[in-house]
Amino acid sequence: MNSQIETLIKQATDKLSAEGVVSSAFEIRLLLAEAIGCEPGEVLSSSAALSPQQQQRFAEFIKQRCRHIPADKIIGHKGFYKYEFAVSGDVLSPRPETELLVEAALEEMRRRPCRSLLELGVGSGCVILSLLAEIPSLCGIGIDISAAALEIAARNAETLGVKSRIEWKQADWFAADFVALFSQRFDLIVSNPPYIAAREIPLLEAEVRDYDPRLALDGGTDGLASYRCIAEVAPALLNEGGKIFLEVGEGQAGAVANLFAEQGFVPENILRDLAGTERCVILKK
Ligand SMILES: C[S@@+](CC[C@H](N)C(=O)[O-])C[C@H]1O[C@@H](n2cnc3c(N)ncnc32)[C@H](O)[C@@H]1O
Repeated sequence: MNSQIETLIKQATDKLSAEGVVSSAFEIRLLLAEAIGCEPGEVLSSSAALSPQQQQRFAEFIKQRCRHIPADKIIGHKGFYKYEFAVSGDVLSPRPETELLVEAALEEMRRRPCRSLLELGVGSGCVILSLLAEIPSLCGIGIDISAAALEIAARNAETLGVKSRIEWKQADWFAADFVALFSQRFDLIVSNPPYIAAREIPLLEAEVRDYDPRLALDGGTDGLASYRCIAEVAPALLNEGGKIFLEVGEGQAGAVANLFAEQGFVPENILRDLAGTERCVILKK
């Protein structure tokens, strides 16, 4: 490894750990790659000396990371599933565990033709846009209560080349006229709604508590408020035999499946993420 790069990585690692910031070697390489203007995989093999501007940029990134700003929010993009998504303070940072929702929905779509997809709560658009990018015949509607999130999602749709197959709606699923916004029913719904119990939000790590939007986290008193509401509206939005794929928080899968069963859904499967946590609930109308 280039000795300058070795020194910069060591200094950054020491600084972050002195500030009590938990940061992986990969994340430091990601910030360094962004400062240099190369791919993260090229950092360690790079032999060129960093210019003063590149060094200054990296120092600025590390300063921001010391304030617990997540790396993706510093550089303005994050890899999710197979694609790169623009992110900002207005959207939840895409999480690796949410890739399970994409994989599960894709498996279903590859088994059974699915033409229309609805995502409730798109954030950066990482879920619905990954699905559209994988299935060229698929069209979708993505809704979010946040206009700023929808702007980021629309930017990502353009980058991924799926803009012509998606429609965005700014809407609140708690609103009395929510279902009336839709003139069609869907073959499949995906959603990763906010699921943190409100009292637990102050206890979250600073990267999440202070830099993910509250709207993307707050699941009400018991974390299940959005699921309760979505269980009530989903039957009117799904075609007969249609399915809903939901991401859930740790320990919520059983309660979420019951909420939907009370509205007539048939629980089909509960999938675990790579950490072994029940993460995705699949139900059929
Ligand atoms: C946990 S984030 C998920 C974002 C993205 N789908 C992902 O998986 O990264 C939940 C999203 O739901 C949106 N949301 C929260 N409450 C909502 C509501 N009542 N109606 C519509 N959207 C809502 C938030 O703005 C946020 O973008």
